[in-house]
Amino acid sequence: MPRLNVLLLENIHAVAENALIEAGCSVKRVNSALKEDELIAALEGVHVLGIRSKTNVTKKVLESPQARSLLAVGAFCIGTNQIALEPAMRRGVCVFNAPFSNTRSVAEMVIAEIIMLSRQLGDRNNELHQGVWRKIATGSKEVRGKTLGVVGYGHIGTQVGILGEFFGMKVAFYDVAAKLPLGNAQPVPTLEALLAQSDFVTLHVPETQQTRGMMGAAQIAAMKKGACLINASRGTVVDLDALAAALKSGHVQGAAVDVYPDEPEQSETKGFVTPLQKLPNVVLTPHVGGSTLEAQESIGREVSASLIKYITQGASTGSVNFPMCELAPSKGTYRLTHVHQNVPGVLRDVNRVVGDAGANIHAQLLSTNPDIGYLVMDLDTELAEQVVQGLQKLACTIQARAA
Ligand code: NAI
Repeated sequence: MPRLNVLLLENIHAVAENALIEAGCSVKRVNSALKEDELIAALEGVHVLGIRSKTNVTKKVLESPQARSLLAVGAFCIGTNQIALEPAMRRGVCVFNAPFSNTRSVAEMVIAEIIMLSRQLGDRNNELHQGVWRKIATGSKEVRGKTLGVVGYGHIGTQVGILGEFFGMKVAFYDVAAKLPLGNAQPVPTLEALLAQSDFVTLHVPETQQTRGMMGAAQIAAMKKGACLINASRGTVVDLDALAAALKSGHVQGAAVDVYPDEPEQSETKGFVTPLQKLPNVVLTPHVGGSTLEAQESIGREVSASLIKYITQGASTGSVNFPMCELAPSKGTYRLTHVHQNVPGVLRDVNRVVGDAGANIHAQLLSTNPDIGYLVMDLDTELAEQVVQGLQKLACTIQARAA
């Protein structure tokens, strides 16, 4: 494999850099996110790009001539909304993320917030830091026996439910997909029904057209009076003006928010404004739910392992935009990979190129989606480079390389 250049942005854990260097890559690090034009300029000669949630890999970035060497993007986080996945696929750029590495970190923070809101610990903490001793506990409650309503019962939602049960809470959940309840959690058929019965509503849905604004004024009004709302999912899920109004009126007793519709790109920014500031019993955090040492390390390990397997073996397992294809390596063979448009006759043309080069196919695995095909192939003879050059001339070829 030729030496590949990796660019890691946004302070990705060193475990990823070390793993990529050990795999034979040259690694350059930039600790902040890059804006579109900066990113385009930085991509010249880069084969693998690593980002977190603050760098947008747009269609323009992917289609720029500077990105012509790009083979893969690793999103060292859970979400991949910041990447134009379809244009990446059409350019033959395979995208990986770390769907489960920070699940527990988010769940632990949410549980801490439920107790903070129940005891108004945020307000007492702020007062005492300003020298104000206010030994009042009006409205302070235990969480034991209260109903925890989980919206989105996926990886994080289920963990929150399990931890909530450890604290003696009754757990109910609403999800658009049929989900197996863990512990004693009760599925609820509609969002409205969940809101009406929950003392704490916690949101763990992805950002989709359906979830955008899913907690608007009407849904917040449908919450039980005196309940608390927690959002550590995506900023667009809650209408913050409606939430602020409900907090002011006292209908909602407290809120914990980790994600916002417009978040600053830099990790340290002054002058951030949200309608929730200066309201009582509101815990605000700057999108740190999944950010623990354990999560960052585990994300670094998981995503770098996927990237290394892709560049060295061609395995697309776990990719969010490529057909799944993983061929077990076999000794003494020469591997190449071929990303192509999914049109009839590709295998015939590929095999003709192999035959014309005088090579023999040891193993071949093809996987397709409606738009592209991804082929991993082992040759018996050291002719992979010659075959790659032949494949690059085919009209259907998006990308061909010797792994
Ligand atoms: P997941 O994909 O495992 O679970 C999401 C669940 O929501 C699924 O069960 C899905 O069926 C359900 N769902 C989808 N649309 C729905 C709708 N309209 N109504 C009800 N349920 C719906 O995702 P995961 O890993 O649990 O992550 C959840 C959210 O947490 C994501 O938005 C993710 O971006 C966010 N997150 C936030 C972090 C932070 O630092 N605050 C860190 C990690 C994730």
